[in-house]
Amino acid sequence: MKAVIPAAGFGTRFLPATKAQPKEMLPVYDKPTIQYVIEEAVASGIDDILIVTGRNKRSIEDHFDKSFELEQTLQSAGKDDRLRQVRAITDLADICYVRQKEQKGLGDAIYCAKKHIGGEAFAVLLGDSITKGPTPCTKQLIDVYEKYGASAISLEEVPRDKVERYGIIKGTEVEKDVYKIDKLVEKPLAHQAPSNLAIMGRYVLTGDIFDKIDETEPGVGGEIQLTDALSKLDAIYGNTFEGKTYDIGNRFEWLKTSIEFALDDDESKDALIDYMKSMINKCE
Ligand code: UTP
Repeated sequence: MKAVIPAAGFGTRFLPATKAQPKEMLPVYDKPTIQYVIEEAVASGIDDILIVTGRNKRSIEDHFDKSFELEQTLQSAGKDDRLRQVRAITDLADICYVRQKEQKGLGDAIYCAKKHIGGEAFAVLLGDSITKGPTPCTKQLIDVYEKYGASAISLEEVPRDKVERYGIIKGTEVEKDVYKIDKLVEKPLAHQAPSNLAIMGRYVLTGDIFDKIDETEPGVGGEIQLTDALSKLDAIYGNTFEGKTYDIGNRFEWLKTSIEFALDDDESKDALIDYMKSMINKCE
């Protein structure tokens, strides 16, 4: 299976940090966000990845490209660990790129992958969200796709007062954590939301999605919404992800994710806890 990573958005919620730098390249603790995303695809058994980019996104290509000067410098300095790290990034997967010429929405970004994908089912991982769980999120969706032979999307329960930020589904649970979806609504008002199960940025889509996107008119925000195209599919399943999804598209979520990931690292954990305690004391 191939994967598509849309990463062409303007990232307006994170300005000015994203004025000249892609939000997908913002580091979360010690790695750019999009590297976590690619590692998830690889851990799910995918090694053919298409990144949808746009203007100001060159640094994404540079990050996954070979850097001869850097490698030579590290080698001469005997920094073997760093050299291995840098080389591992280049060897992660076969990555290619396509440009979305105008930022017309997520549906349009995925449509840019049509030629590369052909008619097969493929995975979509949003370039500005990271997932963490016992089984990679995309792998869980591939399993649902293989079992039911239909598109599968990842879901997470969100607080009722936050449904307006997400695509929300109405569905029937057909087995533990798996829903057959009857309806999808993009960013509904809280009192109109059919549930609090939100679409969380990971998808396995059947090839007919491209025709459905083609038939989709601009929706919320004047953008070609993927959720609207998904609604047109004959069958679609949702999987409540056993794990956690981190949306780094706004500054507070990005900051919390960086702290959480630093706390997972034994090297920084104790020093960070001491620092946070001292900051709390200062604030009290
Ligand atoms: P978002 O809606 O979160 O990204 O899309 P955005 O539009 O960049 O963010 P804000 O709202 O202005 O802050 C989720 C993912 O889809 C990509 C984004 O790059 C992000 O990784 N995307 C979005 C595209 O590739 N093209 C688009 O036209 C829109």
